[in-house]
Amino acid sequence: MNEHRYAGRVRGVEMSGIRKLFDAGGPDAINLGIGQPDFDTPEHIKMAAIAAIREGKTGYTPNAGIPELREAISEKFARENGLDYLPEQILVTAGGSEALHLAMEALVDPGDRVLFTDPGFVSYAALATFAGGKPEGVPLDATLHIDVERAKEQMDGARVFVLNSPANPTGAVESEESIRALVEYANDRKVTVISDEVYEHFVYEKKHVSAARFGEDVITINAASKTYAMTGWRVGYLAAPEDYIPQFLKVHQYAQACATSISQYAALAAYTGDQSPVERMREEYRARRDLLYAGLTELGFDFPRPEGAFYMFVPMGRTLIQKAVDAGVIIVPGEAFGSRAPEYARFSYATSRENLSRAIARLKRLME
Ligand SMILES: Cc1ncc(COP(=O)(O)O)c(C=O)c1O
Repeated sequence: MNEHRYAGRVRGVEMSGIRKLFDAGGPDAINLGIGQPDFDTPEHIKMAAIAAIREGKTGYTPNAGIPELREAISEKFARENGLDYLPEQILVTAGGSEALHLAMEALVDPGDRVLFTDPGFVSYAALATFAGGKPEGVPLDATLHIDVERAKEQMDGARVFVLNSPANPTGAVESEESIRALVEYANDRKVTVISDEVYEHFVYEKKHVSAARFGEDVITINAASKTYAMTGWRVGYLAAPEDYIPQFLKVHQYAQACATSISQYAALAAYTGDQSPVERMREEYRARRDLLYAGLTELGFDFPRPEGAFYMFVPMGRTLIQKAVDAGVIIVPGEAFGSRAPEYARFSYATSRENLSRAIARLKRLME
């Protein structure tokens, strides 16, 4: 095979350890590796997409997104998050992933320090590197939450702090007190906060609180992907102080043009239509969390019960992680999420209760 030349910043980034798991294991494998809802997209959302196709709404849309959707997202922010974002402050993107990418490209200069939790979502470090920045992990405390005092120590001189609550891979939900303290401290020191809230609806006991309530220099990132079981539709958005928008728009315009037109009409139905499917999904995730947590603690794993998203981050040791994967229980080793948790594995419970029970039984046999 020829060895061509590649840019160093791309070569220096590893392939995602998670995408590999999409096809992992044999026919008998139980895949708890994937971070996407196993539910189908609700019917009224699909029908809106079909109607958009039939009505010929298949061309480019305005770069920033269709006005009706920006309006609907603005109303959603007021209704659900207590935030006043004008439609002009909202940019519709191809998933939360593109929103994160735009934010990094537009904010980060070469050499800028970009902070995020380690372990944390795989994209933050890679996107910071692509933008020329220096990714820097902030360690979590023993309960897998952000250690606010520790995070503050790293904040001076940083450019961006990425906050992700509810968090991937830990399922931790940060308290209002922590979020407020982190945002106020960051903004005080001219550190922009990127708040990734894609799991906001999957919180089981605590309450989700948006970071933008506590500071002016906050970019809120969200998506239809997890909330409405729409990962493949690729619709997300960011909301920010108005002067940022043209800068983000430049990157979006040249790299993406616009989010898919049909998906935007589907998302419009999602944000303006019946919200009961979200409630039903949350209740099912809660039941699965309880089942998996009870099963794992019974096996002797000792860790705090996760409060949100659909993940559990379980301290089980490298040997057992490998044995589990070999036995067809597909879980993601902690090193996929940074350097600090190689003894942990991420379990996704976005799969049926039956699969979760089978996975627990298989682990039990391995440990006998
Ligand atoms: C924390 C977090 N942020 C953002 C995303 C990206 O979501 P999307 O599918 O909308 O690009 C994910 C997807 O797994 C995620 O876990």
